[in-house]
Amino acid sequence: MKANELRRKYLDFFKEKGHSEIPSASLVPENDPTTLFTGSGMQPMVPYLLGEEHASGNRITDSQKCFRSQDIEEVGDNRHTTFFEMLGNWSLGDYFKDEQIPWMFDFLIKEVGLDASRLYVTVFSGNSKIDRDEVSAGHWQNKFTEVGVDAKIVDDAESNGMQGGRIFYYDEKENWWSRTGMPENMPSGEPGGPDSEMFWDFGEHHGLHESSQWKGEHCQVTCECGRFIEIGNNVFMEYQKTDDGFESLPNKNVDFGGGLERILAAKLDAPDVFMTDLFDGAKKVIEQVSGRVYGDDIKDTYAFRVILDHVRAATFLIGDNVFPANKDQGYFVRRLLRRSVRFARQLGVRDSLLSAVAKTYIETYKEAYPELSEKILDEIEKEEIKFAKTLEKGLREFKKVWDKSGSISGKDAFDLYQTYGFPLELTEELAQEEGQDVDREMFKKEFQKHKDLSRAGAQQKFKGGLADDSAESTRLHTATHLLHQALRTVLGDHVAQRGSNITKERLRFDFSHDEKMTDEEKVEVERLVNEQIKAAYPVHFELLGVDEAKERGAIGLFEDKYAQMEGKVKVYFVGDYSKEICGGPHVENTSELGQFKIKKEQASSAGVRRIKAILGDPQ
Ligand code: SER
Repeated sequence: MKANELRRKYLDFFKEKGHSEIPSASLVPENDPTTLFTGSGMQPMVPYLLGEEHASGNRITDSQKCFRSQDIEEVGDNRHTTFFEMLGNWSLGDYFKDEQIPWMFDFLIKEVGLDASRLYVTVFSGNSKIDRDEVSAGHWQNKFTEVGVDAKIVDDAESNGMQGGRIFYYDEKENWWSRTGMPENMPSGEPGGPDSEMFWDFGEHHGLHESSQWKGEHCQVTCECGRFIEIGNNVFMEYQKTDDGFESLPNKNVDFGGGLERILAAKLDAPDVFMTDLFDGAKKVIEQVSGRVYGDDIKDTYAFRVILDHVRAATFLIGDNVFPANKDQGYFVRRLLRRSVRFARQLGVRDSLLSAVAKTYIETYKEAYPELSEKILDEIEKEEIKFAKTLEKGLREFKKVWDKSGSISGKDAFDLYQTYGFPLELTEELAQEEGQDVDREMFKKEFQKHKDLSRAGAQQKFKGGLADDSAESTRLHTATHLLHQALRTVLGDHVAQRGSNITKERLRFDFSHDEKMTDEEKVEVERLVNEQIKAAYPVHFELLGVDEAKERGAIGLFEDKYAQMEGKVKVYFVGDYSKEICGGPHVENTSELGQFKIKKEQASSAGVRRIKAILGDPQ
């Protein structure tokens, strides 16, 4: 089965059941400043789930383009992609569980032709306020029984394994859906509800994620080993969070979302979404140009997947008028394309490749997504050329060193990295072309030496500031800037830094303020900081004269001599949100930060308060 056929089948199935088919919304959300990209099928539907009337009626079906920038580094395994299509069907206060569950079963088993004995489902086990979803469990059981498949309902699979069950109850960690996850994480006003998910069994060994292991009798459908893959999610969206619990939404809604490629992977029984026909054309181009074959070698396959995913995502983003740039959405298009070039080089490709890959995607998708046009190719080519120039500079330097000494030492490789941002892998490739290896150990040593030096420097640099320059501390340092600004917004402009101390685990920030902060103030500060993190702001600095820095609203210690360079002060900008005089270092983009949380707020000295805060892992 091909992807276009499956998409059509799905939409037609629901059209026959009285749904209107609507086109996908743009990857850039309209009227929603809280997020850069459309990351789920549900996002553009929020106003209608909240009760607004939809012009196409109360039964809707679609295939929504989605992009998840936070998954960029995850790509390379058998299932992660940054771009994907989410098949959706929506009841806006019309049908509910009695229809949705039998329909989904019929679609997957009768229409797509999946083997019911390899399908497993989960339902919500309930909590103190919301009942256990016995209605959904009962419908699933009837449908499985109808086709002669045993359908035992099991309660505690998480601790005891599957126990021969087919339908599993899980709590709100697994079977609750809202944009912000579990009930306790939902802000007031957010819609959500219990859900019922479907999983495909790729088999005990067949489905394994390349890097993980089957957990034997302890494996169960939500386990991460890769045997099971979630192919769809029925959300029964009937609640809205309030300050002290939940209230019912005006309507009981259904929000179904299913990954087109994942359903297809199940149909093909191929535990690799890159094996679906959507990638055939692109794969062929990369194979032709590189002379390597997808699937032959793990490292190459990883590189193939990165290029396959990233170029497709960039093609769709440019199709929605997001062009390569240094900030906002455009930053991600640039990053996707530049990473692709890097991985193409890893496959031995030196010539332009990306626009030829993009062309195949336009062919494959243009019927379903007419916004994809040839003009996208020009943009990709332009970016490829631009990046080639940057690479060239690094290459020239490489040659200079080579000509002088006839070799590249680990230290040279480190200097290239440090000065031109030239990745070690690239230097290695070039050296290998000359028949030489780069001394990795020496590179590492230099790296460590540099780290130690800057650590010593940092101890000087930030009296009571960064304890080291690890990634963790750098992330917390950028978070400190966001915190500083958020405190000024919430408490007032009298707030100024009185001290800062950062370790790998936490930040500690002292600031001028007379009173203990209220719970509301703390929550609001956290919210503001997390909002900036979610907005994925790029971080950069500019060297400004003191007057200009003041004029542009920079805060911070003007007398900090470590923030002075060439007679000017270094001002760090976090998007447009924070401008602060500082010596660095900082992350490139706030999306690297993870969830910000205040752990403690206490007095430090007279008129000075102290906050300790942490960051979760980046999403
Ligand atoms: N909103 C649900 C999800 O994104 C189902 O569409 O998984």
